[in-house]
Amino acid sequence: MDKILADLNKKIKNRQLEIAVVGLGYVGFPLALEFAKKKVKVTGIEIDSGRLQSITRRKSYISDISSGQLKEVLDGGYFKASSSFADIAQADAVLICVPTPLKGKYLPDISFIKNAVNQVALHLKNKALVILESTTYPGTTEEEILPIFQKHGFKHGQDFYLCFSPERIDPGNKRFPVQKIPKVIGGLNFNATQLAMAVYQIIINQVVPVSSCRAAETVKLLENTFRLINIAMIDELSMMAHKMKIDIWEVVAAASTKPFGFMPFYPGPGVGGHCIPKDPLYLYWKAKSFGFRSRFIKLASDVINYMPEYIVKRIKETLERKGAKLEGAKILVMGVTYKKDIKDLRKSPSIDVINSLKKQGAKVFYSDPLIPFLKFKGLDLESIKLTAKKIEEFDCCLIATDHSKVDYASLVKNAKFIFDSRNVYKGKHTEKVERL
Ligand SMILES: NC(=O)c1ccc[n+]([C@@H]2O[C@H](COP(=O)([O-])OP(=O)(O)OC[C@H]3O[C@@H](n4cnc5c(N)ncnc54)[C@H](O)[C@@H]3O)[C@@H](O)[C@H]2O)c1
Repeated sequence: MDKILADLNKKIKNRQLEIAVVGLGYVGFPLALEFAKKKVKVTGIEIDSGRLQSITRRKSYISDISSGQLKEVLDGGYFKASSSFADIAQADAVLICVPTPLKGKYLPDISFIKNAVNQVALHLKNKALVILESTTYPGTTEEEILPIFQKHGFKHGQDFYLCFSPERIDPGNKRFPVQKIPKVIGGLNFNATQLAMAVYQIIINQVVPVSSCRAAETVKLLENTFRLINIAMIDELSMMAHKMKIDIWEVVAAASTKPFGFMPFYPGPGVGGHCIPKDPLYLYWKAKSFGFRSRFIKLASDVINYMPEYIVKRIKETLERKGAKLEGAKILVMGVTYKKDIKDLRKSPSIDVINSLKKQGAKVFYSDPLIPFLKFKGLDLESIKLTAKKIEEFDCCLIATDHSKVDYASLVKNAKFIFDSRNVYKGKHTEKVERL
């Protein structure tokens, strides 16, 4: 057995392993805390001083982690956060969980990965296992990360091991916390995969090895492309059903009774977050370099990107049917985060809806129990506190995100008109509520 493998396996067995997690965001932070809960020493490296200060103040900034949970882990003494890569010198396993956004509309931006890897390669002292968790296009680990380590004089299998393991966390999903989501692992070689399996088995119930980094990278992109395409499909069917005066929500509910071969997806104002809107475009971009153009991905993106505009069009039509105009109308957007009960504003379709409403001359306000102030993408607004009297003031209340902490009964009692893009009212109150 080779020396790195034997040493690391021994450390894993005796829980003497030290882990570094680079990037303490929605992905890295819960992961780091899970290892610390299992009494594995973890150092989280984060460059955002706001997030680091939050940890020092023992206040969580991620919806899935309560401040109480954070305190408990900090008191346990196995987790520390740092802004310095020098702190990973002794790490035996480094998990990289940094952002992978788009440059402009369609270009993958892997600069965060490259910067992080450069820092890791500069500071790593041990013969360690390095695992990339950030979602990226197939080939990134082998074509981009491996050469960085090689440039710093590391030899794979001799000085370090390299793996890709996609994070599949679903923020806000209480049924599937980190340990219950099977972990797909693809190493640069067999030993790398074996090591990563042993590391993740400390915190995760099931690990799923695949043959290569490339396969593991593609698994994540398949999963999110599957979601993008199905959501786009139901969005398009909902627009079609509206024209045909068919209730799409009723149709999906009935179709869902089929015990096999069907899985429900629901229409909405678009998709957001740091996954579904952009991950498939990473695959699209990489496929183009092989001379292949994925028509499905492009079409699905186009359909979904149209949804905010479509919702504004529907609100405009309804107001006009009622003898009012969108221009000058007071519109309350309910829910500005991209997802129910989650604080994340990234790529939220609500923001596009707000901008589109403003462009058409509407006076736009918002209410969101999770976002008291909206200083984002040129917007500077304060969340409206919902009282019966306040609700009456608006010409339309648009339910863009259906947070749990909203009194929907009071809303429908007092509102003049509601556009419900999330089926909160399930076909009730039809005189006041129009559904997507
Ligand atoms: N958010 C999700 O639901 C989700 C789910 C699965 C996978 N992913 C993927 O995981 C990756 C991370 O996503 P996220 O939502 O956690 O992003 P995030 O922005 O919440 O967290 C990333 C963190 O990395 C930090 N960072 C950036 N560069 C750094 C560096 N050089 N050194 C140290 N820290 C650095 C940032 O400051 C940030 O706090 C992305 O590739 C994303 O596509 C996200």
